[in-house]
Amino acid sequence: MKKRRVIYSILLILFLSYPITGYVAGQNARIKFDTERIIGEVDKNLYGNFVEHLGRCVYGGIYEPGSPLSDADGFRKDVLDAVKGLNVSLIRYPGGNFVSNYHWLDGVGPKEERVPRMELAWARLETNEFGTNEFVKYCRAVGSEPYMSVNMGTGTIEEAQRWVEYCNVKEGPYFAELRKKHGFPEPYDIKYWSLGNEMDGEWQMGHLNAEDYSKKALEAAKLMRLTSPDIKLIAAGSSNYRPAADPDHWNRTILTNLRDVVDYIALHMYVGNPDGNYYNFLTTPLVMEQRTDIARGMINEVMQKADRGDRPPIYIAWDEYNVWYRARTDETTRGTRALEERYNLEDALVIGGFLNVFIRNADVVKMANMAQLVNVIAPIFAEEKGMFRQTIYFPLELFAKNMHGKSLDILVDCPTYDTEDFFIGPGEVMTKQTDVPYLDVSAVYENGEVVFSVVNRHLDKPITTDIICQSGVFDGTLEVFEVNGKDIKTVNDFDAENVKTVSKPALKAKGNTATYSFPAHSLTMIKGKVK
Ligand code: AHR
Ligand code: AHR
Repeated sequence: MKKRRVIYSILLILFLSYPITGYVAGQNARIKFDTERIIGEVDKNLYGNFVEHLGRCVYGGIYEPGSPLSDADGFRKDVLDAVKGLNVSLIRYPGGNFVSNYHWLDGVGPKEERVPRMELAWARLETNEFGTNEFVKYCRAVGSEPYMSVNMGTGTIEEAQRWVEYCNVKEGPYFAELRKKHGFPEPYDIKYWSLGNEMDGEWQMGHLNAEDYSKKALEAAKLMRLTSPDIKLIAAGSSNYRPAADPDHWNRTILTNLRDVVDYIALHMYVGNPDGNYYNFLTTPLVMEQRTDIARGMINEVMQKADRGDRPPIYIAWDEYNVWYRARTDETTRGTRALEERYNLEDALVIGGFLNVFIRNADVVKMANMAQLVNVIAPIFAEEKGMFRQTIYFPLELFAKNMHGKSLDILVDCPTYDTEDFFIGPGEVMTKQTDVPYLDVSAVYENGEVVFSVVNRHLDKPITTDIICQSGVFDGTLEVFEVNGKDIKTVNDFDAENVKTVSKPALKAKGNTATYSFPAHSLTMIKGKVK
């Protein structure tokens, strides 16, 4: 009897000390995957971008007529090539805060007849030289789909309807004929339309409360759909999570009131590192994931009572995201040089984190747009003399080129850290996060090939990791790409691409396991076949 008890005790001690799950110091970290354990289909619209009439995004960015670097349409050729490199699936236009006082008719027709306007959101003179037709032409040139935002601030539902008619109706009514008269005989069939921008923000021209916004958006949606039945509509969700703005109330109200008609809810997020605390900053993608979860829950709740015919449930569009905290003073948010943020390596790692969040939530996040494309908080920076690719260009490029197919539900087991409470943006706080994994990982599977995106957030240590296939074995070697730099503050400049994507030696796997040491403060993409 006594002997048996001793044996049981020994077995219990052995059982408790054995690392069944959970990372144990001294062991390799682990990423486990099974190609049949799927989260959802990755939408190509996760690799969208955004062009706003703000600073030098349009004028002096994508468009600079008269420049020796521009083509006959005034499009900067060097910028256009860099945009193409990002495989941008769709481009949101023309704002942003700009759209809430924009009247699209000002920007069409003969250029010499277009009137200049005061641009009140970002304090510029808007010449209207660039408008709807130039924008659609640009999208065609870079291979992107246009995504329009209508003015729900100072604009009317009738003005929104007429814009859809101008763009999407073949012939007959006045505004369709007007497009033809302007030299564009074929309708554009623009599919994506958002019902205003950040209408919850008190800075928005024509800002509304949640009830009033949903009433106006509902009626605009009705007229726009009657004009062009196949369009997809995006509702303006909370622009950020300032507790003072009661974001949950806004989102729940508009989701409830618009649950039968809209296809997406738009969410925005900008983060920064104002205190110079690397780990806090690198944790901000986790906050985006929590907000995604909250929105997902609300969508599930309102879908219980929705009447949507065959339409799928409402999806999330993170249609503005980026790092933005330096160019935020009165001076740097106004005029022609507004929002010219210069990015470093840690910013690129945060962008890698955001993109991982989109992949991990691919079943509900079906659109994302980096804000913005050129010069204004952007991956591409241009001056008259030329352009360069900022650090944040490279994670976006890697994802847009490689992360497609099915998002996989993986297990990540690695060392962790804790943060402090942290200000991430004006009025927005991230509360202390605990047990944050150093490795931030997402994975996709398509045509027998698996791709991993791994951000090692550790500031000074590589993390050796076993990547383990639970549904087969690796077939051949794996390709490895890395975005890294000398240190986390490294920036790029004209003729100095210090942070960029580098190909590393191919990785050999053994059966179902590939072991790789992810360098400190890096983003790595690993790609290979499994069978
Ligand atoms: O992208 C810059 C600005 O950020 C946009 O105009 C606005 O929608 C957001 O607040
Ligand atoms: O700077 C103005 C506002 O602050 C932006 O439009 C909003 O997104 C940001 O947080």
